[in-house]
Amino acid sequence: MTTNIPTGVMASGSNPSPIEAGYEATSDWDEQSVASSTQSLTESIMEHIYENGRRYHRKSKDQYLLPTDEKEQDRLDIVHHLHLELLGGNLTVTKFEEDPPNVLDCGCGTGIWALDFGDVHKGSEVIGLDLAPIQPGWTAPNVKFELDDLEKKWTYPKNHFNFIHSRHLVMSIRNWSRYLQQMYKHTAPGGRIEISEHTNDRWWCDDDTMPEGSAVPAYWRAVLPCYEKLNMNVGLRGDDYRRLVEEAGFEDVNLHSFKIPIGMWARDRRLRRLGGIVAESTITATESYALNLLTSVGGMPVDDAKKLINAAVATISDPKQHAYYFEYFITARKPVQPVVV
Ligand SMILES: C[S@@+](CC[C@H](N)C(=O)[O-])C[C@H]1O[C@@H](n2cnc3c(N)ncnc32)[C@H](O)[C@@H]1O
Repeated sequence: MTTNIPTGVMASGSNPSPIEAGYEATSDWDEQSVASSTQSLTESIMEHIYENGRRYHRKSKDQYLLPTDEKEQDRLDIVHHLHLELLGGNLTVTKFEEDPPNVLDCGCGTGIWALDFGDVHKGSEVIGLDLAPIQPGWTAPNVKFELDDLEKKWTYPKNHFNFIHSRHLVMSIRNWSRYLQQMYKHTAPGGRIEISEHTNDRWWCDDDTMPEGSAVPAYWRAVLPCYEKLNMNVGLRGDDYRRLVEEAGFEDVNLHSFKIPIGMWARDRRLRRLGGIVAESTITATESYALNLLTSVGGMPVDDAKKLINAAVATISDPKQHAYYFEYFITARKPVQPVVV
């Protein structure tokens, strides 16, 4: 299948080659409103609460642990920018010969991907769906936002969407099999899906620049038991997602893996640029992912949690640490003549 992936940044095989370090970076990284809803919009669905200096969506705080405030929304938009850089300016790995008529963006966040997709594909009707009302009130005529829970039974018609997009829901979806089965049921025969996920249970390092005794392993040692307590499987790898997509019934399943540096330490210019964007987002991502988790689930006092998070960020932000993570893209198609619809 043809894809939009630019050459030079993809990790291949199960043991991809190391990223060559060589750039001496400095410590600064230089270089209410939803249009519609499938639920009745009661007051409570619009409410937020404030805790430990962050804002959370009241109705889903125990279900989805990340904040919804401006700081988090800015982070989501930086990550969108990262993906555009990664995919050479494209919104997807999947290539379209014509605009897919009905498109769903699952867990759309600020709605930035849905709006961009609607802009590029004027012939598509795009729905961005999320638990939390953090999408803009104004939208393009072919883009609308809905509030709903992807883990509940989907209310859309069967065989409806020609393209379903799902990005960074590792903290959102508890039951991936069920999620993908629902995705399959609501994809039109011959329709396509694309899932992108990142690793979320460790950071890697190939050259011992991130020592065992540093703040980073301590951070993961505190965070991982909290995920376990919640029964959240944050350790899925690209091959796991691929298998789950295949098991749901999709065909032409392709996995594209990227090894992405955290920080501007790579010799390669393109990777260095990506690493700079990642570093920028990691500064706030670490708190977004871990503060509520460590305090509410782990029972850690807020000051201790902040200290741990800040130490991990400082360590990972040090350009002498050659840390990286993986980003996976899985593309697939529902058979034109599905055995089960
Ligand atoms: C990390 S953000 C990713 C946002 C967006 N996909 C992007 O890439 O910019 C995860 C989003 O999923 C939403 N979410 C979490 N659990 C959900 C669920 N069960 N149903 C619908 N949306 C959910 C959150 O509110 C949040 O906006």
